[in-house]
Amino acid sequence: MKKTNVLFVCLGNICRSPMAEAMFKKMLTNEGLSDNYSVSSAATENDEAGSRPHPGAQKTMDAHHLDYRGKRSHPITATDIQNADYIITMDDYNISDLKEMIPQDQWDKLHLCMDIVPGKKGVNIVDPWYTHRFEDTYQMLDQALPLWLKYMQDHHNSKREGSASFDSE
Ligand code: 4NP
Repeated sequence: MKKTNVLFVCLGNICRSPMAEAMFKKMLTNEGLSDNYSVSSAATENDEAGSRPHPGAQKTMDAHHLDYRGKRSHPITATDIQNADYIITMDDYNISDLKEMIPQDQWDKLHLCMDIVPGKKGVNIVDPWYTHRFEDTYQMLDQALPLWLKYMQDHHNSKREGSASFDSE
């Protein structure tokens, strides 16, 4: 069976998307689903290329027993985009930046992370690089990521070519 390829994206790939990657991987491990998924994260910009996660993100990930060993900021590539089944972004800026890079026929891969949470459609995950509120990032991701996994488990095969849409409250 082909693995479902999930790519989390933010601006620098040192705060939000590495946390999302580590949280999603931990959830897959806990659910015994790791073999079915390929999970990674990437940046829309090059400025932090090769950097370790931000110290604030590391502290929060340590507090939640998340494994980010070896993670370094990785600017998104055409191959990442081609391989991804789901590109899950943190905010509107990520979406508009990615639309500049991704052919329009693949825009259905693009999602805003909080869109899947009832009542949170269109909500951005505020960048803790500016706010220093890394635990808030964790808590928002903790609401959304289990719903994404459920969505992927329920829909991936049947809706592979379609785009996700969610009820808003
Ligand atoms: P991230 O946060 O997109 O959540 O990784 C940021 C990281 C770096 C910068 C901005 C946001 N920066 O301007 O370098």
